[in-house]
Amino acid sequence: MGLWLLLLLLHFHLVLCVFLPAPFNVSISSFNLEHTLSFLPGAQTPSDASFTVQVLRSRKNSWRPVAACLELKVGQMCNLTKAFKDLFDHYRARVQAVTPNKTSNWTVSGWFQPVSDTVLGPPDLSVSGCGNCLILQLRLPAATVLRQNLQLKDLYREFVFHVQRTRDATQFRLNLPYEEETVITYLQPGVEYCVTVSVTSLFNSITVPSKPQCAFTSPPSQRSSLPVVFSLVGVFSVLAFLLMGLVVYGSQLSFKLLSQRIPRTLVTHPTVSAGTCKIKCSLSHQNLL
Ligand SMILES: *[C@@H]1O[C@H](CO)[C@@H](O)[C@H](O)[C@H]1NC(C)=O
Ligand SMILES: *[C@@H]1O[C@H](CO)[C@@H](O)[C@H](O)[C@H]1NC(C)=O
Ligand SMILES: *[C@@H]1O[C@H](CO)[C@@H](O)[C@H](O)[C@H]1NC(C)=O
Ligand SMILES: *[C@@H]1O[C@H](CO)[C@@H](O)[C@H](O)[C@H]1NC(C)=O
Repeated sequence: MGLWLLLLLLHFHLVLCVFLPAPFNVSISSFNLEHTLSFLPGAQTPSDASFTVQVLRSRKNSWRPVAACLELKVGQMCNLTKAFKDLFDHYRARVQAVTPNKTSNWTVSGWFQPVSDTVLGPPDLSVSGCGNCLILQLRLPAATVLRQNLQLKDLYREFVFHVQRTRDATQFRLNLPYEEETVITYLQPGVEYCVTVSVTSLFNSITVPSKPQCAFTSPPSQRSSLPVVFSLVGVFSVLAFLLMGLVVYGSQLSFKLLSQRIPRTLVTHPTVSAGTCKIKCSLSHQNLL
């Protein structure tokens, strides 16, 4: 009799349970070793439903609730940074919808390993010019408190700088170890370069580059002096033209004055008539031959 009642209750419970749809798209995202679980409620989830989260460590093999994520509302995320303590362990998370008399099935995330699945953001980068060189200053992200005495910067292997000259997009790449300040020399002075930086990790993490930071190697004096040179040349050529004009006009004027003063007989060109005579003579001479 007791068994029948139990089965009946169980059946009743199942009928009630099965109706609440399970959450979906349960995924873990992670940036600079801060891990966040997100999910979507199943279709027709009642608005009074809340969601509860549990995590599994591959080394422990039992699901444990996440204290801060027992009653999440739709759209809220679960901060798993503390729950995934061991950087090198593998974890899963699962989410269930809950109403006062119903629970949904659990939806389980994929496996997640903090050290390899986190996205490593770039350090803060500032760039300034120093003549024919650039000074790159790096500031690491605020130290996330990590276990095993590791710091975020212990995960970095190298810093990859992409340097691009703005004028013609000529670019090169530098892989350097961490330095607070790095100087890139032998650049063109008075020219703008843009730099981005990203990190590479010992554990194959996914990284994102910084936004480009741009600076002139030195104040663009040559560049700004170019228009000055051009305008000076312009002014000089205008002056030269004026001068030439004056000279021509002046000479014409003096020629006119001269021709007015000199008697007409002298102005006729006796050389021309002499020349034509010469040509004519030579022609007739050739004909004779
Ligand atoms: C819950 O899971 C069981 C078995 O895994 C499945 O038969 C059932 O359809 C699921 N219920 C819902 C609402 O998805
Ligand atoms: C759920 O995840 C799938 C695959 O990751 C994606 O294509 C889809 O757009 C997501 N759905 C929503 C509503 O975000
Ligand atoms: C998540 O938790 C960590 C550790 O408690 C904290 O440093 C971080 O700011 C939290 N992130 C968010 C988005 O609240
Ligand atoms: C859930 O329980 C409440 C009272 O606790 C009741 O009013 C409501 O009708 C129940 N809902 C369903 C779907 O059984």
